[in-house]
Amino acid sequence: MSQSSPKTFWWGVATSAYQIEGAVREDGRGESIWDRFCRVPGAVERGDSGDVACDHYHRYAEDIALMAELDVNAYRFSIAWPRIFPEGRGREEPRGIAFYDRLVDALLEQGIQPFVTLYHWDLPQALEDEGGWRNRHIVDDFARYVDRVSRALGDRVKYWTTHNEPWCIATLGYSNGIHAPGVRDPAAALAAAHHLLLSHGRAVPILRANVPGAKVGIVLNQLWVIPASARAEDAEAARALDGDFNRWYLDPLFRRAYPEDRVAAYRRDGRLPAGPLPFVHAGDFEEISRPIDFLGVNYYTCARVAAGDAPGEIRSLPPEGEPTEMGWEVYPQGLYETLMRITRDYAPTSMLVTENGASYGDGPDENRRVKDQRRIDYLASHIDACERAKRDGAPLDGYFVWSLLDNFEWQCGYRQRFGIVWVDWSTLQRIPKDSAFWYRDRIRRGLGRD
Ligand code: FCB
Repeated sequence: MSQSSPKTFWWGVATSAYQIEGAVREDGRGESIWDRFCRVPGAVERGDSGDVACDHYHRYAEDIALMAELDVNAYRFSIAWPRIFPEGRGREEPRGIAFYDRLVDALLEQGIQPFVTLYHWDLPQALEDEGGWRNRHIVDDFARYVDRVSRALGDRVKYWTTHNEPWCIATLGYSNGIHAPGVRDPAAALAAAHHLLLSHGRAVPILRANVPGAKVGIVLNQLWVIPASARAEDAEAARALDGDFNRWYLDPLFRRAYPEDRVAAYRRDGRLPAGPLPFVHAGDFEEISRPIDFLGVNYYTCARVAAGDAPGEIRSLPPEGEPTEMGWEVYPQGLYETLMRITRDYAPTSMLVTENGASYGDGPDENRRVKDQRRIDYLASHIDACERAKRDGAPLDGYFVWSLLDNFEWQCGYRQRFGIVWVDWSTLQRIPKDSAFWYRDRIRRGLGRD
């Protein structure tokens, strides 16, 4: 097994349950909000769903063998809450736990360190029926789920993250409805964000109690925001978006408060009432800001913004250069800046880049080779940015490519391909792309300071 000595740099690949597992009706799994959302006409491109996905639930041994060939020493994956508690709480499903038991054992046999994400968006539908993350009661449900999973796997899994990207869960799920559960209620999204953060804080001591030597963290997605000009209004627009996206989560976790400038803006636009924040109870920030062992950073792109015509309006500008197939600008310097800014402003003890990668559709040629040079360039430039940030003092201890496999890319379905391994959607055959071999060689070279 890989040792977590201070010298270890984690080179990994990342996935999430709903995006790869399939087998949604097997072994007693309950319905998740994504099963439901995928059935809403027009919600997901081409009506795709995670019903089969990469069929990783049955092919996990093959996928771990692929990882072993890449020489990764870490694998970040998520647990599907509806496999453990099909109705969200109460009756538990031993076959769900047994699957993750087998997965963890198979990883450890290959010397690959498991990094578990407890929540990567597939909420049991039964809990959503009670309001999901909008309902404060979910904090207790999450705590019970975390307790159960960490008691089952804590003898072997040391690295735990509570949530993946609370911004996406709250904003895309409850404010603009692009993601499950498809709710459009910006005020409720702020309550959801708070309950996500609170449930994270509630989980921290549970993980420490159940897991000897636990390393506990949370994963935030970060957007590097660039003002369109040196004008004060544009700088203000950039600060506003940075506040919505980055500081709304970083500040409570590391500074025990929501950013004042955004609280004031949300009062002006009616998302928040005057006076105390309705969803914050006494003691919440103490729980939310409990010390963590690492911060996970997901980084893909930057945003270029200018002030709009209406007060407080943020206007986004088109990307510069050739974007990826998601339409996202390729801006590795933003990863460097993000890591340095977090180091400077929030001083986490350790950081991991828990996701970074690019969607390009390059497929197999007649010799079954996938020449995805653009992805190689993307990964190379971003890993260089990590190397520079580490050299300049960022406490960076790992890097995970998103993703091992082409998979179900949420509202975009299977059209967007982030994998370093190609998946043929008719046969489910896996073909490592050129980027997979490149990544293996890059891992072998290591970082300057390994
Ligand atoms: C992140 C998600 C991940 C994947 C990538 C492309 O926001 O965490 O599941 O969809 O984007």
